[in-house]
Amino acid sequence: MQSEIRKRLIEAFTNAGQEYLSGQYLAETAGCSRTAIWKHIEELRKEGFLFEAVKKKGYKIVHAPENVTADEISFGLKTEFMGRSIHYEEKVDSTQKIAHRLATDGAVEGTVVVAEEQTLGRGRLDRRWHSPKYTGIWMSIILKPNLPMHKAPQLTLVTAVAVVQAIEDVTGLLPQIKWPNDILIDGKKVTGILTELQADADRINAIIIGIGINVNQKLEDFPEDILHTATSLSVETGQVISRAGLMQAVFARLEKLYLTYLKDGFYPIKLLWEGYALSIGKEIIARTVTGDIAGKALGITEDGVLKIQQEDGEIRHVYSADIII
Ligand code: BTN
Repeated sequence: MQSEIRKRLIEAFTNAGQEYLSGQYLAETAGCSRTAIWKHIEELRKEGFLFEAVKKKGYKIVHAPENVTADEISFGLKTEFMGRSIHYEEKVDSTQKIAHRLATDGAVEGTVVVAEEQTLGRGRLDRRWHSPKYTGIWMSIILKPNLPMHKAPQLTLVTAVAVVQAIEDVTGLLPQIKWPNDILIDGKKVTGILTELQADADRINAIIIGIGINVNQKLEDFPEDILHTATSLSVETGQVISRAGLMQAVFARLEKLYLTYLKDGFYPIKLLWEGYALSIGKEIIARTVTGDIAGKALGITEDGVLKIQQEDGEIRHVYSADIII
């Protein structure tokens, strides 16, 4: 975990923008000695941060490295609570697993577990999520809303809208959402969201939102079985995208939408979600565990359940399925 001093130090540099900060100022802001500040700056240098140091003026950060450590994510972060507590790992089986443990141990709302690589990334419907080293965003966010359990799927849709908006902010691409929570670009999957619950007597104790975003993979990095159905932001834009920058954008969008949702309910989110949805108004097949349901996707209910109108006019509600368009 990132220390409090390190957090305050990075926040001071974030707020300073292009200004230099003196050692004295940094020591006062972070609540430690100037020697301690100097040691932290040395450690940040080792992580890959570049500082410009000017006599009588102080320090400024001129380059942040390209990993997703707590320091890199915090530098430039403009949220109140989302992503303010970061648990970083180089390699894990699944960030979901760690997030569940932290949530049980009392992690604060907005805590994020992030890893450079997952060896057993979990997908929906018990599938695996390919999570190679340094190329994607593999993270789990802990939220603790005071809500009944049946509202949990709404939070998945809140997250999907936030991720679409963040991708749009950072890359200019216009992704779409395939119900319930796949994010696609030109029909290929760029993001998956997996929501898991810790609940008690029908109330949510914690909700663990796992987000996997394919960011800087090249086409040849994808395994054969998903090569034709997956893509990355880098493949789509031809550029290398800052993962930490995109995470900050996701946290900013998610915090805003989540607070709107808690205050005004699901309706404003539903409208946004339907605006980004790929399948609404189209003929689709929902592949459920009990069989296929074919018909026209009408939209989602207040609970985020998909409504499909069959040929015979009957309207079916779909809670969990793979959608074929
Ligand atoms: C899907 O099947 O579309 C959902 C994929 C979710 C993957 C993310 S990556 C970070 C988090 N940790 C996991 O093990 N899974 C989720």
